[in-house]
Amino acid sequence: MAPVTAADPRAWLLDPVESGSAAGFGLYLHVPFCDHRCGYCDFATAAVGDQAEQDQQVLFDRYLDALVTDLRRQVAAGPRRHAPEDGRGAVGTAWPVVTSIFIGGGTPTLLGGERLAALLGAVHDCLEVAPDAEVTVECNPETASVELFGNLARAGVGRLSMGAQSFAPHVLRTLERGHDAQRPVTAMAQAREGGIAEVNLDLIFGTPGETDDDWRATLEAVLVAGTDHVSAYALTIHDNTAFGRAVASGAMPQVDEDLQRDRFDVAREVLGAGGFEHYEVSNWSLGPARRSRHNLLYWRHGDYLAVGVGAHGHLAGRRWWTTRSTARYLDAIGAGDSPIAGSEVLTDEERAEERLLLGLRVREGLHPNDLPPIEPLALEEAMDAGLVETSCGRLRCTEAGWFLLDEAVSRLAL
Ligand SMILES: C[S@@+](CC[C@H](N)C(=O)[O-])C[C@H]1O[C@@H](n2cnc3c(N)ncnc32)[C@H](O)[C@@H]1O
Ligand code: SF4
Repeated sequence: MAPVTAADPRAWLLDPVESGSAAGFGLYLHVPFCDHRCGYCDFATAAVGDQAEQDQQVLFDRYLDALVTDLRRQVAAGPRRHAPEDGRGAVGTAWPVVTSIFIGGGTPTLLGGERLAALLGAVHDCLEVAPDAEVTVECNPETASVELFGNLARAGVGRLSMGAQSFAPHVLRTLERGHDAQRPVTAMAQAREGGIAEVNLDLIFGTPGETDDDWRATLEAVLVAGTDHVSAYALTIHDNTAFGRAVASGAMPQVDEDLQRDRFDVAREVLGAGGFEHYEVSNWSLGPARRSRHNLLYWRHGDYLAVGVGAHGHLAGRRWWTTRSTARYLDAIGAGDSPIAGSEVLTDEERAEERLLLGLRVREGLHPNDLPPIEPLALEEAMDAGLVETSCGRLRCTEAGWFLLDEAVSRLAL
C-alpha cells in the first residue's frame, strides 16, 4: 500500500491490499426466467410456466442471442466505458483476467445445457478466463438431470447453487416451491454423477409456520445431503411481492426478528457441528477451498461486469444496473441501445464505508490497509459493545456482531 502522505492523504483509498482490483475480476450473467415466481422473491425474474413449450424455446433462443450480443458489445467498448469519468482506480484499456463467472437468476438451468455451454463459449471467445476460474450456475431442483449437469461440467461449470429452501413440506408449500423435500437430495446426487465438483444449497429460515423442529430437521437433512456449501437467509419480506402484499393486508404475519435470531444461532450450532465453517454472515463451507470465490469478490468490493436483465456491475467505484424488464432488455439489445437503467459513482467516503460494511461480513474481516480511518473512541466503544474484535491485526465482526452488522458499521463509519 502506498504510504499516506500530506500530498496524497487518501492513498489508502486507491491502493488497497485485498479489495478493489486486488480481489479478482468477476463476470455476472443474469437469466431471469422461472417456471413460477415464488411469493417471497424480489429478484429480476420473468415467469414463463404458462407459456407454450415452443414459445418458451423461442424466447430462450432470443435471450441467449441478446446476452451474447450484450457481452460482446461491453467487452468491445473496453473497461473505461464503465469506469468513473474522473479516472479514479487507474482502470486500464484491457479487461483483467476473469477469475470467477456466475450465471444467476432466475433459473438459468431452464435454458438447458447446450445454451449455457454456448454462453460460456462466447465468454471464452471474448475475455481471457483464468484456467482455475470458478464457474457457478444457479439451478432449481426441478430442472436437475444427470444429462444437464454432464453438459454443464463439460462446458467448464464446476459449481452449482441450488435453492432447497426447506426440507419441511408445509414450509415449501408456503414458499410456493414447485418441488418436494426429496428433490434437492436427488438433484445433489445427479450433480455428482454429472461431474459437478461443488454444490451449494440455499435455505430460507423464519418462514411463517416454520417451527424450531422444522428448521433443525432442515439443517440436519442438509448435513446428510452431501453438500459442501450452504447459504442460509432470513426470510425478507419485500413490499412488491405476493408475501409483501399478504403482510400488508394482514393475511401473513410480519417476520419475527427474535425468532430469526434464534434460527440463525441454531444454523451456526448445527452446521458448525457438521464441520461447516461459518465464513460469511449467511454462508457456510466445508473448509476455505469450498468458499464461493465469486461472492468473496463482492464482499471484497471487487470489480465485476454485469450482463443481462436486472444485472449489477461495479468497476473502480462506479456501479451500474440494467433494466429489470426482459422485454425492454431484448428491445434495447435488438435496437443497438444500452440496457443500462442507472449508474452512480461512489464518493471516496461512500466507497470506504461500503468496503467496511462488505468486509465485515467475512469471517476474517478487513486487513488494516483496507480499513478507512476509524475514530479510536468509536472503535473502543464498538469493541466494548461486543460488536467487533481484532484478530491477527485484522478488524472483524464478532459472531454476535454479524447479526447487528448495520449497527457495527454505523458506529465505525467516518
Ligand atoms: C436468486 S435466487 C435463485 C435460486 C433459484 N432460482 C431457486 O429458487 O432455486 C437465490 C436465493 O435467494 C434466496 N432468496 C430469494 N428471495 C429471498 C427472500 N425474500 N428472503 C430470503 N431469501 C431469499 C433463496 O434462498 C434463493 O434460493
Ligand atoms: S426463488 Fe428462484 S425460482 Fe423462485 S422466483 Fe426467485 S429466482 Fe425464481
